Amino acid sequence: MSVFDRIGQKILFTFDPEAAHGLSIAALRCGLPVAGRPVRDDRLKVSVCGIDFPNPLGMAAGYDKNAEVPDALLGLGFGFAEVGTVTPLPQAGNPKPRIFRLTADQAVINRLGFNNEGHGAAERRLAARKGPGIVGVNIGANKDSADRIGDYERGVARFAQYASYLTVNISSPNTPGLRNMQAREQLGELLSRVIAARAAASAKPPVFLKIAPDLVEAELEDIAAEVTEKQLDGVIVSNTTISRPTLRSAGVTGEAGGLSGKPLFERSTIVLAKMRKLLGPDRAIIGVGGVDSTDAALEKIRAGADLVQLYTGMIYAGPALPGRILTGMVSFADKERLTSIRALRDISLDKWASKPL
Ligand code: FNR
Repeated sequence: MSVFDRIGQKILFTFDPEAAHGLSIAALRCGLPVAGRPVRDDRLKVSVCGIDFPNPLGMAAGYDKNAEVPDALLGLGFGFAEVGTVTPLPQAGNPKPRIFRLTADQAVINRLGFNNEGHGAAERRLAARKGPGIVGVNIGANKDSADRIGDYERGVARFAQYASYLTVNISSPNTPGLRNMQAREQLGELLSRVIAARAAASAKPPVFLKIAPDLVEAELEDIAAEVTEKQLDGVIVSNTTISRPTLRSAGVTGEAGGLSGKPLFERSTIVLAKMRKLLGPDRAIIGVGGVDSTDAALEKIRAGADLVQLYTGMIYAGPALPGRILTGMVSFADKERLTSIRALRDISLDKWASKPL
């Protein structure tokens, strides 16, 4: 980390995590020069679901919940940015405090509960965008909705024309009952209706399903079967975990919510590889969970990911992280004489897929 990043991080860490997040969004909105020039190299390019990504590294959902700064995130070097989760109606989320830093573990626990300004606010911002960059929209359901599947249909109808891709997020641990939609029967109905909503929309972006890491093999098999049957475009693996692997941070590890960051890497990568085995080579997978370095990002690709996302890593490493990861990928391609980073996909698939959950 550069001196500049270290000072920036020290200042941000004097604020509580949610205030620090707000400040970082404000800095991006104001166009502060928070990172260097984006890394461009043909060996980073990858085409997934008909979209030509300039590089395989994206900003995960949850950072820019209200679509305030997608283009500024692309300016940090990310090849794509996912905004949301957005729900039809604005909602406040859970009482504060609801984000906790586990600094000794390079991790975070959050129980935000889909706090967001609702579809209307995000749509206005996305409609006003001028840039050509790749922006995915992550859609969810309101906590008190009487028709949760209907909320996803509304998300598809509203954002299909603005989104490079859509993500159906049913894996947040912070909306009670949401993750039950991963069970086969409910999932089948959800995916049928989402696909039908896309067919009725004026634009037809790819649709991805974002899953939890806290699933057993049989549940993964059911999800893969439904994704294949309903011909969804891909899967994002994974959201935060409700499990608590051995952690070093004192005090906050017992807080309720989803754990993200370094301790999530292992489990989310195992689930990713198992999903790749179940889905076969052609369906898209985005690997996310604990990526904080070039090595970690490349390992997701080796375990079966077409694209990689991160969030918590940037809380600890600052806005230069995407550039650093991509520069590292270019050096790796030089060293190994690779014609494309894509060529690494699946080379460690068996190793990861054979690990127990
Ligand atoms: C998230 N994440 C998330 N995911 C999602 O689909 N919708 C959301 O609204 C949020 N919100 C959110 C808030 C906060 C504070 C965090 C830390 C995370 C999950 C995120 O996109 C990602 O899947 C996990 O955090 C794992 O990746 P990292 O953080 O380990 O790189």
